Amino acid sequence: MQPHCPFSKHKLDHPPLPLSLSLSLPPSLSPSNMQALFFHASLLLLLAFTPFIVFSFLPSLFQCFRVKSKRLPPGSMGWPYIGETLKLYTQNPNTFFSNKQKRYGDIFKTHILGCPCIMISSPAAAKFVLVSGAHLFKPTYPPSKEKMIGPEALFFHQGDYHSMLKKLVQASFLPSALRGSVFEIEHLVLKILPSWENKTINTLQEMKRFAFDVAIIAVFGPIEDLEKECIKNLYNCLEKGYNSMPLNLPGTPFHRAMKARKLLHEILRKMMKKRRDNKNGGEGLLGVLLGFKDEKVSHLTDSQIADNIIGVIFAAHDTTASVLTWTLKYLFDNEHLLESVTREQEEIRRRIMKERRGLTWEDTRVMTFTSRVIQETLRSASILSFTFREAVEDVEFQGYFIPKGWKVLPLFRSIHHCADFFPHPDRFDPTRFEVPPRPNTYMPFGSGVHSCPGSELAKLEVLVLIHHLTTKYRWEVMGDADGIQYGPFPVPKQGLPVKVSSRKINSM
Ligand code: HEM
Repeated sequence: MQPHCPFSKHKLDHPPLPLSLSLSLPPSLSPSNMQALFFHASLLLLLAFTPFIVFSFLPSLFQCFRVKSKRLPPGSMGWPYIGETLKLYTQNPNTFFSNKQKRYGDIFKTHILGCPCIMISSPAAAKFVLVSGAHLFKPTYPPSKEKMIGPEALFFHQGDYHSMLKKLVQASFLPSALRGSVFEIEHLVLKILPSWENKTINTLQEMKRFAFDVAIIAVFGPIEDLEKECIKNLYNCLEKGYNSMPLNLPGTPFHRAMKARKLLHEILRKMMKKRRDNKNGGEGLLGVLLGFKDEKVSHLTDSQIADNIIGVIFAAHDTTASVLTWTLKYLFDNEHLLESVTREQEEIRRRIMKERRGLTWEDTRVMTFTSRVIQETLRSASILSFTFREAVEDVEFQGYFIPKGWKVLPLFRSIHHCADFFPHPDRFDPTRFEVPPRPNTYMPFGSGVHSCPGSELAKLEVLVLIHHLTTKYRWEVMGDADGIQYGPFPVPKQGLPVKVSSRKINSM
């Protein structure tokens, strides 16, 4: 079987494998007759198949010649078919990227998972791929992910359909739309924090629980607990299939995930019907999507809405949970920063207590130092280390040739860890954000048309949780505090087990 590029629906254009034919001949035929017969038969076969052979090899030959005659970026393509996949997956991916960068520079070629790739780690190249030349590159994901989330989710599209959906999603997560969510997010924080007290928790798992609940509110508005639990169970099952082999056979995680997806769609359809029957789109992103009408007064279909709801929950969940987990890790490792954050939060808390009210959007706007800690966490941890694009046509950039169909990976993490833009990159130093970073050097939420519409919501969640956590609790990392695991986003080892206790000096 030919290797299948996991990021493309099509098999690669490799030359066909030679066929071995076994013929059974009548015993009366002498060897010389046989030879003559075989020679003529071969000649006839060759003549008959010549046009086929020429035409099937031509595109590959032409592609090979076209690529070889142009100046590709430096780099190595590794072994045939395997490329450098083993090299990448048998070491820390960041070591792979930085070794390559040292050897070849900011733009280099490689071959990963059956796909020829160009990796880029200069701000100018990232800007070209994601912003100014964005029309030359389309987003690309493994087909299993597209099947799980749903092909009509905005991630997988370019052009009019994408920009129409992007406007709707963005509108749901603008600061003006988020103001009202502070109360609900605080409510969730006040429910989850006491459940950690005097316990050792797995930070990542708890943050996933919290981030999921916030995502549900953002997407549906307040919903009944039973409905939420049902969606959560199905989503958990779906999530297990995201990184599994796309093998739709009974018993496989992929099969179970596809079944969960079907059930999730049914629940979402029922919710849509209920809201339509009530002539009220309701709250959250679902309300916005249900209320949409274009110039021809066409609405979005049920499957378009369902795919985008699942897509947004997917995008909002693990990413935010990883950032929350890293924030706790960095604050634990840097006591002086924890004290500075606590001082800032205590001042806000005193005001809130005096005015006998809950946290407001305005309070979160004056959490200046805490916001810098979040910015530095996003830089240092670089949750999305890189993203994938695919050249939709042959592209020339800075004298290099990027062939159509090749993957292009802007390496956010390499840019965030470049000493030219962030001096002493391995030092966790929120004060570096007292000065805004140079253009195109800081992209934790991506850049250009596909940049993250949920960045403000993600930061808001962290601020609200950190406000209550630092003013009322302390945490201690248990076991070996260092090391990173990928699942799929980088998180501290074992999900950062921490022991949580209430703060000794607690006047709040
Ligand atoms: C700290 C948490 C988060 C991080 C680090 C993050 C990061 C990113 C990045 C880097 C991209 C761009 C990917 C690319 O260019 O290929 C992206 C896209 C996206 N994010 Fe986030 N994200 C976070 C939280 C959220 C949240 C809370 C939501 C939803 C409310 C969300 C929804 C989306 C969506 C829908 C896209 C696709 C946009 C498009 O294709 O136009 N993200 N995110």
